[in-house]
Amino acid sequence: MNPELRPDFSLEGEKEIIKEMVKLTIGLMEESKEGCPLRVQHAKATACVTATFEIAADIPAGLRYGVFSKPGRVFEAIVRFSNAQGKITPDGERTARGLAIKLLNVDGPRAMDQGTDTSQDFLFVDHPVFPFPNPEEYRDIIKYKSVPLIGDLLALAHLQFFEPDQLEIVKAIRKKTVASPLGITYWSGVPYWLGDAVGLTGQAVKYSAVPHALTTGPADPEELPADYLREAVAKQLAQGEVVFDFKVQKQGDSASMPIEDASVYWNEHQSAPVTVATLRIGKQAVNSNSELEKRCEGMSFNPWHALKEHRPLGGLNRLRKAVYEASFTERERRKKAA
Ligand code: HEM
Repeated sequence: MNPELRPDFSLEGEKEIIKEMVKLTIGLMEESKEGCPLRVQHAKATACVTATFEIAADIPAGLRYGVFSKPGRVFEAIVRFSNAQGKITPDGERTARGLAIKLLNVDGPRAMDQGTDTSQDFLFVDHPVFPFPNPEEYRDIIKYKSVPLIGDLLALAHLQFFEPDQLEIVKAIRKKTVASPLGITYWSGVPYWLGDAVGLTGQAVKYSAVPHALTTGPADPEELPADYLREAVAKQLAQGEVVFDFKVQKQGDSASMPIEDASVYWNEHQSAPVTVATLRIGKQAVNSNSELEKRCEGMSFNPWHALKEHRPLGGLNRLRKAVYEASFTERERRKKAA
């Protein structure tokens, strides 16, 4: 078996980088807004909604693990749509868009030993690759960003001079415009194990979520109201349900579809994503003051809230284990201190 698929795999020097990243990330956290501390990334929710997640009746036998093990099973879910920045900014600003799905009441052995969590979370953005291949290169960019006042400029200069390929991915993400978070495709970007809990039988996969109705983005989103994405979701869900196909893409050739380089696109012609579930967001009222939205802001969506059968893979996911935990703990601490 490819060693990168083993639960104990790590890269040289990774532990130190992860420690450093936890510190840097918490250092970037904005001040709280109205008593609710902001996430250090994906701070602005464009909606939080309820949904169901129905496993396909014809799911291929080789993918029947974890939440996908029983065809036709339906899970209750909470779904948070977000803009990727760590600040509350107008929706027209160019950035990645997030989709976080939390399946509730999922029983089974957990990917993380600690905690009493019983959810299965799936996290996505609207681009198939992450600009920075591994924890070390992501750390380098966050280090520049952390320099007071000129951090963003330094990070840009670093990319321009030393990492033009990474800069191209950042530009591709920022070029997109979005009419509604309900009308775009999302990808997990990084890989996950899909197999038995012990880690012997199965494969690496990436996930995507594709809406039944794709929408084209506006030409000048900067001209639109600050919360136009939330308004678009509210309008659509007042009229009726919105449905996404939830897909699994199996890793093919491990050289062209690597585990440890998140900046490489896993070609969807070489390994076509297969629909394994339907995410159904029913007709509902969407309102930023609702109880659900308030609850959602205090919640933690984390790729390690997972069954062992869906264990996150790759260095960036190992980094996320420490960073998401630290971000949530700091949010809780600030809430209590407020
Ligand atoms: C392709 C890879 C990634 C995807 C798809 C992704 C997606 C997301 C999404 C959708 C959220 C919002 C979750 C919510 O609604 O609560 C989020 C939050 C966050 N992300 Fe990522 N992310 C990725 C990589 C990373 C990496 C490498 C880091 C840094 C180590 C990171 C750090 C964070 C942090 C700190 C939060 C806030 C967590 C909290 O306070 O609860 N992400 N991410």
